Amino acid sequence: MCGIVGFVGAEQAAPILLDGLTRLEYRGYDSAGLAVYDPERGLQLTKAKGRLKALADLTNGGNSVPGTVGIGHTRWATHGEPSYANSHPHLSNSGRIAVVHNGIIENYLEIKEYLISQGVTFHSETDTEVVVQLLEYYYKGDIVDAAFKVLHRIEGSYALGIVCADQPDQLVAARKDSPLVLGYGEGCNFIASDVTALIKYTKTVSYMEDGELAVVTRDGIQVYNNLRQPIEKEKSIVDWDISDAEKGGYEHFMFKEIMEQPEVLRKAAFPRIKNGRVELEALSLTDDFIRQLSRICIVACGSSYHVGMVGKYILEGLLRKPVDVALASEFRYASPIIDENSLVIVISQSGETLDTMAALREAKRLGAKTLGIVNVVGSTIAKESDDVLYTWAGPEIAVATTKAYSSQLIVLGLLGVYFTQVLGTMPDDEREELLRQIQLLPSKMEEMLSYTEDIQYFASQFFNHESIFFIGRNLDYAMGLEGSLKLKEISYIHSEAYAAGELKHGTISLIVPGTLVVALATYDPLFDKAVSNIVEVKSRGATVLGLTTEGRESQMGKVADAVITIPETHPLLLPSLSVVPLQLFAYYVALQRGCDIDKPRNLAKSVTVE
Ligand code: F6R
Repeated sequence: MCGIVGFVGAEQAAPILLDGLTRLEYRGYDSAGLAVYDPERGLQLTKAKGRLKALADLTNGGNSVPGTVGIGHTRWATHGEPSYANSHPHLSNSGRIAVVHNGIIENYLEIKEYLISQGVTFHSETDTEVVVQLLEYYYKGDIVDAAFKVLHRIEGSYALGIVCADQPDQLVAARKDSPLVLGYGEGCNFIASDVTALIKYTKTVSYMEDGELAVVTRDGIQVYNNLRQPIEKEKSIVDWDISDAEKGGYEHFMFKEIMEQPEVLRKAAFPRIKNGRVELEALSLTDDFIRQLSRICIVACGSSYHVGMVGKYILEGLLRKPVDVALASEFRYASPIIDENSLVIVISQSGETLDTMAALREAKRLGAKTLGIVNVVGSTIAKESDDVLYTWAGPEIAVATTKAYSSQLIVLGLLGVYFTQVLGTMPDDEREELLRQIQLLPSKMEEMLSYTEDIQYFASQFFNHESIFFIGRNLDYAMGLEGSLKLKEISYIHSEAYAAGELKHGTISLIVPGTLVVALATYDPLFDKAVSNIVEVKSRGATVLGLTTEGRESQMGKVADAVITIPETHPLLLPSLSVVPLQLFAYYVALQRGCDIDKPRNLAKSVTVE
């Protein structure tokens, strides 16, 4: 949701800014721009509508833009259509101050009206422009002074990068509810929306917190709290390499990330399994708390919410405690019934999804204990949750999540097993067998990923459908939700997922001869019921692509037109395997349709607005 980057050093800034933006393009890609201070001509703005490539072409990879201090932005439009005028950076009327912004200034209309009444002219429809014009309004020769005044006036969420022509050796950065990382180089320093933009230049970073403002110069970075007192930031070393954020020979990040899943499962699960037990990193959750726990609530958005849907079946099965799953955007406004005996598990790859963050804060306000399952280290949700379990999936660049989904699922499963150890709800031998099966998952997944031709073939058969339904029961229903989302977000085919038994209560009216139904029937206890539902849609002329476990293919073959199988595993682990063909199906269908797989239209990763 908009990517920002800033550089102060001795080298030419624009190529470095463009390189950083390339790695942030997954956050938004409808326009991009740079503001670089040129000692001869002052602040110079270059912007282009469309993908970052347009900006790179315009500036010859940044080489035609002189200057060693600058900021850059790649946009996901919130206020105002993608256009030259609305793209960032925005420039103050005097041309002295430039700003890039990620987030939403909620009181921008009120500020805009005030500034207009003071004779200020606006040039865009964006909320961001009020920041730069207000900076100029307050500016009396010290940009840091003006920035503090602006921060006290604006409401909403923001990560800001500011450059002022009168103090051209520094950048000013500030954050509230939108991520911002400070990078420490040698003779240069950086700001960026996330570490992927910096990792090529430095692995030493600090994560800015809400209310902080940073002054970034060539020689150092000074951070202030909201009272303008200087503070010392803790520095962290990023423990992955630039190659993790590159395609490594694959055509798309999404495919690369699907292929990385076996390794991701190993990293997330193996260190947490010891001698037939789950050992989690130090948690503040006490055994007493877990024992008296009255309710678990899982809160998340999108695919992370789908992990929660699977998690409900897993946790209720293992713990016999009530588990609710809530969409974060609904949870916070629904007067949730939770208290100090509740555990709220928030799941987020980015750790910055605004709705999830707000839900976490609401849960804390209501006294619940909170636990984050998060991928991005140092992210807001990771920091604000009472406890955090990292998923260790490494950077996920494709907008459609794959490996992060798998890592969240396994971590949630391990958490469930950990709780059984405290509650005594699972005999030792059953737990040991479940953990043994978890350790077998990566090799089973590798086997599935070594042969993808059949799924590629099915995709070639079905890619021109305009509406596809996913049906399943129990865990298969939860998986259908993810399969359907994956397909629609990257292929633009209309798709819906239904609990198989529910279809006949209305939606079956949409099944006409030739409609493709992907029927999931991996969950053995309900296999026969799933078959009955397949027969129902077949009777209405549907074409059925069945997904089941090895050994069931001939039975499935009798009712479905085509069958995909997954290896057998513990019933609770089936989703970890069944997600793979669903991801591949979505991928190959989108490929056949010529879609922009890593950057689907209208979407952005890391949704930092409500
Ligand atoms: C879908 C997808 C999104 C995210 C959702 C939550 O492929 O990636 O639905 O799952 O935006 O994002 P996080 O997990 O970062 O909170």
